[in-house]
Amino acid sequence: MSNLIEVGKPSPHTIDVVRRFAAVVFLVVSACSVGRVADDAAGDEIYGQLCATCHGADLTGRIGPALGPGSNAASRPREFLEFTIMHGRGRMPSFSSSLNDEQLERLVSYLREEQGE
Ligand code: HEC
Repeated sequence: MSNLIEVGKPSPHTIDVVRRFAAVVFLVVSACSVGRVADDAAGDEIYGQLCATCHGADLTGRIGPALGPGSNAASRPREFLEFTIMHGRGRMPSFSSSLNDEQLERLVSYLREEQGE
C-alpha cells in the first residue's frame, strides 16, 4: 500500500529535471523578449530598437538604404513602408512578429515626421 503512494511522488531527480527545464524555458523567454518592443513604446524608440542598426540612428542608412528626407522611402506611399516593415524585403527581415498594428502605426508616423511630410 505504501508502495503505491510512493509511485505518485516525484523523486528528487524528477524535481531537479523540472527545475532545470523551468530555468531553460525562462532563459528562452527572456532571450526572445530582447527583440520585443514595449507595448507603449514611442515611434522613435521602436526605430532605435529595431531599425537603427541597419538604417542608422539618424536615418541616413548603413546596411539598409537611407530612410530620411530626400530618400526613396520618403517618396513612397505609407503602404509601401508598412508593407516593407511587416513583410521584409531582400536582406531586410520581416517585423510582423515583433510589432502590433499600433506600434507599426507609431513607427511609420515617426518616419514620416523625420522625412518632413
Ligand atoms: C538587418 C538589417 C535591417 C533591419 C534591422 C531593418 N532593415 Fe529596413 N532594409 C534593410 C535592407 C538591406 C533594405 C533594402 C532591401 C532591398 O530593397 O533589397 C531595407 C529596406 C527598407 C525600406 C525600403 C527602402 C527603400 O528605399 O526601398 C524601408 C522603408 C525599411 N527598410 C524600413 C525599416 C524599418 C522601419 C525597420 C525597423 C522596423 C527596418 N527597416 C529594419 C535592412 C534592414
